[in-house]
Amino acid sequence: MKLEVNRIHSYYGKSHVLEGISLEVNPGELVTLLGRNGAGKTTTLRSIAGIVRPAEGSIVFDGEELIGKEVFEIARRGVSLVPEHRGIFGLLSVEENLAIAVRASSRWSLSDVYEMFPRLYERRKNGGNALSGGEQQMLAIARALVNDPKLLLLDEPTEGLAPVIVDEIVRILGKIREAGVSVLLVEQNLAVCEKLADRHYVIEQGQVVYSGTGEQFRQEQAVKDRYLAV
Ligand SMILES: Nc1ncnc2c1ncn2[C@@H]1O[C@H](COP(=O)(O)OP(=O)(O)O)[C@@H](O)[C@H]1O
Ligand SMILES: [Mg+2]
Repeated sequence: MKLEVNRIHSYYGKSHVLEGISLEVNPGELVTLLGRNGAGKTTTLRSIAGIVRPAEGSIVFDGEELIGKEVFEIARRGVSLVPEHRGIFGLLSVEENLAIAVRASSRWSLSDVYEMFPRLYERRKNGGNALSGGEQQMLAIARALVNDPKLLLLDEPTEGLAPVIVDEIVRILGKIREAGVSVLLVEQNLAVCEKLADRHYVIEQGQVVYSGTGEQFRQEQAVKDRYLAV
């Protein structure tokens, strides 16, 4: 399903963080949102999910305006945010974390996600807070899947993870994309972005400064140096 973000302005108090962001995710596309720390990537995802309410602009998903709807109403339409700090319930087991998120009509059942994430099956009786960072990230993604997302918003899913775990997450994101779920991915790891994405947006100080296809972006060394180099 299609997401159209049109010139949104979002604030924290008086601080004007998003200054007219526009972007699109077409049905089944995997699109990355890139930019330095503080550029407004997380705020963009939070604005789509309804956690931050833009003061101006529109966010249309599957033909329907999302601005003004509550977080749970947006979630019910299939927009699923996997936040940066993952939001795992530490005192619940892996299986309990998944069970509370299951939607009966989901195309991914508990056993489907265990097949996708064998590590989670092995650790299903473990408490959420006994998991490694990588396992927590897998659980957060698995939990989004059993809730049957139409649009998955992922905030830096590979941050701080070991390279083998990063590869595992890339493999999973590839599968999610093959299943036809639209994905908007915030990611700092350029190699990960280039492996997966159909298109990219780069934002800087709350504005889109570049957009291009995967193929175009591979050649854009100047854009990478200017907006993404640390
Ligand atoms: N809860 C908040 N209250 C006030 N300012 C915030 C809050 N969260 C983020 N900001 C500010 O908004 C800007 C964009 O932040 P963010 O969207 O988190 O950027 P990114 O995810 O690209 O690193 C930054 O200047 C940040 O300091
Ligand atoms: Mg962020």
